Amino acid sequence: MSGKKVRRCHKDEVIFREGDEGDCAYLIEAGRVLIYLDDKEHEVPLRIVGQGEVFGEMSLIDASPRSASCRAVTDCHLIVVSKQQLLDRIKAVDPVVRLLMQVLLDRLRSQNDLIRGKGPGESAVGKVDPLEAEKKAALERIGLEHRIANGLDEDEFFPFYQPIYDLRTGELRGCEALIRWIGKDGTIVMPDVFMDVMEETYLILRGGQLMIEKSIRDLPKMLSHFVPGSSSFFVSINVSGRQFTDPGFIEHLESVRKRTGVPAELIKLELTERIMTEGTQALATLHDCRKLGYLLAIDDFGTGFSSLQYLAQMPLTDLKIDRGFIHKMQFDDKSLSVVKSLIFMADLLKLRTIAEGVETADQLALLRELGAQEAQGYHFARPLAFDKFMQLPKQFSV
Ligand code: C2E
Ligand code: CMP
Ligand code: CA
Ligand code: CA
Repeated sequence: MSGKKVRRCHKDEVIFREGDEGDCAYLIEAGRVLIYLDDKEHEVPLRIVGQGEVFGEMSLIDASPRSASCRAVTDCHLIVVSKQQLLDRIKAVDPVVRLLMQVLLDRLRSQNDLIRGKGPGESAVGKVDPLEAEKKAALERIGLEHRIANGLDEDEFFPFYQPIYDLRTGELRGCEALIRWIGKDGTIVMPDVFMDVMEETYLILRGGQLMIEKSIRDLPKMLSHFVPGSSSFFVSINVSGRQFTDPGFIEHLESVRKRTGVPAELIKLELTERIMTEGTQALATLHDCRKLGYLLAIDDFGTGFSSLQYLAQMPLTDLKIDRGFIHKMQFDDKSLSVVKSLIFMADLLKLRTIAEGVETADQLALLRELGAQEAQGYHFARPLAFDKFMQLPKQFSV
């Protein structure tokens, strides 16, 4: 094990000089350090830092030369923070926060330039900024976040519905609600453009709530059109981790459902196994939902850190087979084995199996043979706006 690396400095020892390459930062365990600018004949003191303070971090954060010189004012005991230690942590930070850190560093450097008698930012002129691309990405992200929030205010997000058919009888069994952003000019924006930003921010709570509200509101119309007099039809709603673990999740879901009078047994919540990394509260909420009658599907199973332990713990009703496996199963033995084992396992656990991403008649035939129960995919229909969805056949010839 590498113990903590330390550096001992004597009084008046120069620790590093302005312009050096920065390879580590220091945490002062004991002693005091002067930070100063070397300005031709004389030095300009900037600040004295003492016990518990950090210095030498700026050059690591933005990969620039040391912005000032440092000298021990007393004997010092310093803990060395390696570049890697710091960079690993910075990498984990939200890109917008990284951008803000950069802004603060630039300000400090300009201030040092002014003290040196240079114009603000003069020392940066002509230098290539290694973080330019990252800054641009962070600014774009802030812009997208802002446009999504606006789109939510303007009611531009809607569920599209993709039909799910019974593989044995060809009957329409239900649908999956998939979010779409429809701009003022009618362009349809797909979730891969905005879902990550939504999920990383509070916006997912608003996006998630509107998907619950709109799709549950559409459900009674689907029922009376497709299965009049019976209620064997479901709408499946994707729920992300942050949304599911929000304390108001069940209360909101129940209030919407009660308003429409739809039984909970017709509403399926699609969750990924990542939900299980959210802690015990997520598991408790799963059980509460199941007790209330909601159907619970595990989505994308087998694509992440799948754990059979999770599968056994979660009170599930359905298992969705990821389209990655379906896509490859006819020419890749391993994918075929995964599909077979998933169907076998689901059977043992008494879970309904739904194959996603079925694009061809051959895939459909193979899935029937393997005993999957339901399927969705472009072979049947793409996700459709409500009106178009209502024109779909109630029966698919299998
Ligand atoms: P998902 O939940 O795995 O949804 C299935 C995706 O596969 C959908 O993409 C669907 O349009 C697509 N798909 C369906 N059939 C086929 C096929 O035959 N071939 C191919 N290549 N693709 C097919 P979509 O609508 O772009 O959604 C992408 C992902 O965004 C979803 O993956 C889901 O993770 C997320 N998402 C969509 N709507 C919501 C939502 O309302 N809430 C949350 N939390 N996530 C959502
Ligand atoms: P770095 O640029 O790696 O090396 C010099 C260090 O001095 C810098 O990191 C900061 O820790 C510190 N520093 C630079 N400018 C100032 C300032 N104006 N005030 C306080 N500390 C500074
Ligand atoms: Ca899904
Ligand atoms: Ca999926």
